[in-house]
Amino acid sequence: MRKQPVTRRQFLGSGIAAAGVISIGGALPANGRDWEEYAARFDRSIGDGLPAGPLRPDDETAWKAVAKNYDVTNKITNLENGYWGIMANPVLAEYKQLTEFINKENTIFARPRWSETYRGVRDTVAGFLNVGPDEIALTRGATEALQALIGGYNKLKPGDTVLYADLDYSEMKNAMRWLEVRRGVKAVKLTFPEPTIDRPLQEADILGFYEKALSANPETKLLLLTHLNNWTGLIIPVARIARMARDRGADVILDAAHSVGQVELNLKGLGCDFIGVNLHKWVGAPIGCGVIYIKKDRIDAIDPYMGKPTDVSDIDGRIDTGTLNFAAHMTIPAAIAFHNKIGTAAKEARLRYLRNLWVAPARKMKGLTVLTPDDEAMVAALTSFRLDGVTSTSANDSVVRHLAEKFGVLTVRRTGPAAGDCIRVTPSVYTSADDVMKLVNALRSITASPGSIGVS
Ligand SMILES: Cc1ncc(COP(=O)(O)O)c(C=O)c1O
Repeated sequence: MRKQPVTRRQFLGSGIAAAGVISIGGALPANGRDWEEYAARFDRSIGDGLPAGPLRPDDETAWKAVAKNYDVTNKITNLENGYWGIMANPVLAEYKQLTEFINKENTIFARPRWSETYRGVRDTVAGFLNVGPDEIALTRGATEALQALIGGYNKLKPGDTVLYADLDYSEMKNAMRWLEVRRGVKAVKLTFPEPTIDRPLQEADILGFYEKALSANPETKLLLLTHLNNWTGLIIPVARIARMARDRGADVILDAAHSVGQVELNLKGLGCDFIGVNLHKWVGAPIGCGVIYIKKDRIDAIDPYMGKPTDVSDIDGRIDTGTLNFAAHMTIPAAIAFHNKIGTAAKEARLRYLRNLWVAPARKMKGLTVLTPDDEAMVAALTSFRLDGVTSTSANDSVVRHLAEKFGVLTVRRTGPAAGDCIRVTPSVYTSADDVMKLVNALRSITASPGSIGVS
């Protein structure tokens, strides 16, 4: 993940220069030859507004300087940054310019030049993820990537079992269930263990849970895993579970929508041959940027997409996005460059620090359960809580509304865990310690007088 991306010069230089068609006004180059200069400026200057040196997680001054790079609404304190990540200003500026450029040049650019530009962007993403460029294709998001993987996985036969869990993402759960119709398999839904107020989940609980599930379902040939959970924030030990599955002859499809960019990871080291990734959550790319990963020697386990004729080793034939948002995808290298200037490790440490700032006092509050453990291997930015006995969707919606209206803090209700709905809290890199303290005060008030929100 630390590998430096290729420069814009590498990915846009030669082809565009040869085309000689770029003629947008403003800061963009007047002609193809100017791309070199443009690219050099970009490489030097992106992230100039970031503080120098290693960023300590508790250095509010330094993170305030980071926050200055983000234009965030002041209507409410946004602690709901799990949907997608807002772009940093320099990335947004790049996106705006490229949008204008694409809009103006239209097919004059896209028809002759998109393929090679795409390949350049893909090389950058492959470098960032530390995988081969021929192992990934760009998608509009993780959903598109994972649906193509689940639907295309062709190693199933009638009578096999596929496993997924209550904590997996809704669209992927649907796709796993749909395999019953598509492939004639049995789809088994697992229910994750729930933490109690006195006993947070431990890694051994998760490993034991999957061990038991695989033993109880010996016909399992495919297992869906979500690396960093969208409902609760739980990070599971993917590499060890994947090994367990492989030892029993089962493949894993991994949903890494939330983990890439939020936590340091070695994607290949996770030991999963099929992965869906988002770049618009924690890497800060424009909305509409994701990645499908298929390990090179496993391409033939995924069918060509809807009968697309394709070379057997060609990942592009495993997905069909139709016309992409060119400008969004051309902005990915800028987002990666900005992300790398902060650094995944620094980002992860800061996010976990902010998470711990509210979780530590919340654990001491009566009538509230935090749904993720504090073990650093099992949590980062996202963490959900549940007020005791408050399990319905409508009651959790009321709590979210109360937090917003009375305390000015934005959170989100999540419906997923079998034990009931919960409320997710997600700080971002522009969140301050003061922002988080607003939530702490709100939770103190709510737990001191639960009647004040009118739910039970
Ligand atoms: C765990 C998980 N998987 C997949 C997705 C889907 O991402 P997208 O809608 O960007 O395709 C999300 C989105 O929130 C998610 O949280």
